[in-house]
Amino acid sequence: MRRYAIILAAGKGTRMKTDLPKCAYPLLKKPMIAYIVEHLYKSTVIDELITVVGHKKEVLQEILNSTVKYAVQEEQLGTGHAVLAAKDYIKDMDGYTIILPGDMPLIDASVIKEAIEEHNEFRHDLTVVSTILEEPFGYGRIIRDEAGYLNSIVEENDASKDEKKIKEINTGIYIIDNRFLIPALMKIKNKNAKNEYYLTDIVKILKDELKLVGTYLLKNSHKAMGVNDLYTLSKAENILRYNINKELMIKGVAMINPDTITIGQNVVIEENVTIHPNTYITGNSIIKRGSTIGPNTEIHNSIIGEGVTCKHSLVYNSEIKNHSKVGPFAHLRDGAIIGESNRIGNFVEVKKSVTGNEFKASHLAYIGDAEIGNNVNFGCGSITVNYDGVNKYKTIIGNDVFVGCNSNLIAPIKIDDNAMIAAGSTLDKNVPKGSLAIARAYQVNKENYIRKPVKKIKK
Ligand code: UD1
Ligand code: MG
Repeated sequence: MRRYAIILAAGKGTRMKTDLPKCAYPLLKKPMIAYIVEHLYKSTVIDELITVVGHKKEVLQEILNSTVKYAVQEEQLGTGHAVLAAKDYIKDMDGYTIILPGDMPLIDASVIKEAIEEHNEFRHDLTVVSTILEEPFGYGRIIRDEAGYLNSIVEENDASKDEKKIKEINTGIYIIDNRFLIPALMKIKNKNAKNEYYLTDIVKILKDELKLVGTYLLKNSHKAMGVNDLYTLSKAENILRYNINKELMIKGVAMINPDTITIGQNVVIEENVTIHPNTYITGNSIIKRGSTIGPNTEIHNSIIGEGVTCKHSLVYNSEIKNHSKVGPFAHLRDGAIIGESNRIGNFVEVKKSVTGNEFKASHLAYIGDAEIGNNVNFGCGSITVNYDGVNKYKTIIGNDVFVGCNSNLIAPIKIDDNAMIAAGSTLDKNVPKGSLAIARAYQVNKENYIRKPVKKIKK
């Protein structure tokens, strides 16, 4: 028995009124569709995951890579037509397929699992996941017969005045016996307000064939929120943000003004961490115990060690080891690995460089493509000159080196242990161990030089 999942993500997302395909839109800096894929795998009740793509398909394929298989819907003729694009994948008839829209980022693994369990337990041929909404506008309504059984689904645009009052809605999740999926899809017509092939019509089709069609009522209705416009996107993001922050605070992460703090879903934060306002920590970041992050800080895909302070700074794809102090106004990026007990201060940028322990660059410096040892001081205004306009070159600095202020280290260059660089030097040669390097014009004092008054020329 093979268990399939099909995510529908080919639509344009017309109501978003923007260029990015809807399902690629990020919440907490992670694309909407990535949440659905993760939860499907986490549910452990799926063997094969197919995503239907179409409009700007390359954007979605770049996000999901090889985590899913793809079916292409060339023309977006409706949700029923979209599922049909995946027909070649549904080969094993002994099993089920769960279908989900790609615009419901708040869905989670437990809902998927429970809905499928209910589908199997009641031996349904088709299960529609429904929920109750106080404001059902825009969703398909669940129409029940007098005995309370599911009869059909009516879309907002096709609903009568009375049907619009129904508060039970279609979440857009369906679980269907593989044997009935493709034949039912082939029977869908596009005679409706939008002239689209509605997936919702499979309810009526299977009912007419006397198949067993039922519903699974989702209690936490917010998990079914369908994101069709940018306003709903922000509402969904707020819910996610609130839930993540709440869970973290209960686990011992202090947050000052949590409404201004955004933590991504895959971020790990240990106990005894304090996060100050206007801070974003996203991607696969880890913050270890005892650290203080923010205010006004962005950390993405980075590892922050124990007892670190990082404020008013940007940290992307980098690491800060234990007890280092970063900021204010530092920028670490593209593989900056900051050693233990470092001081990376005001207006210091570090790119693709590794620093040893006790490294200090307290103000105004650029460190790019460098390997730096322990106990090094990198003076104010000093930079690694790593780029000649075509290629990038490496700077290697040993242990116990003192780089004076306003020095230019023209790479490739090696500064050996215990060396000292005089302030204002522009170096293009290696500096041997224990040497003082001076590469600047010497000062000349012309004594008794008296500046003669110069007369202003009249025009
Ligand atoms: C759909 C349901 C509605 C349900 C709601 C739940 C239909 C006809 N309506 O409406 O009953 O209450 O979801 O959120 O199914 N898509 C394609 N190809 C297409 C059209 C759509 O792949 O040709 C994809 C979209 O990218 C989207 C998903 O299908 O991810 C749902 O489409 P959308 O336009 O958002 O449907 P709704 O109007 O929200
Ligand atoms: Mg939708």
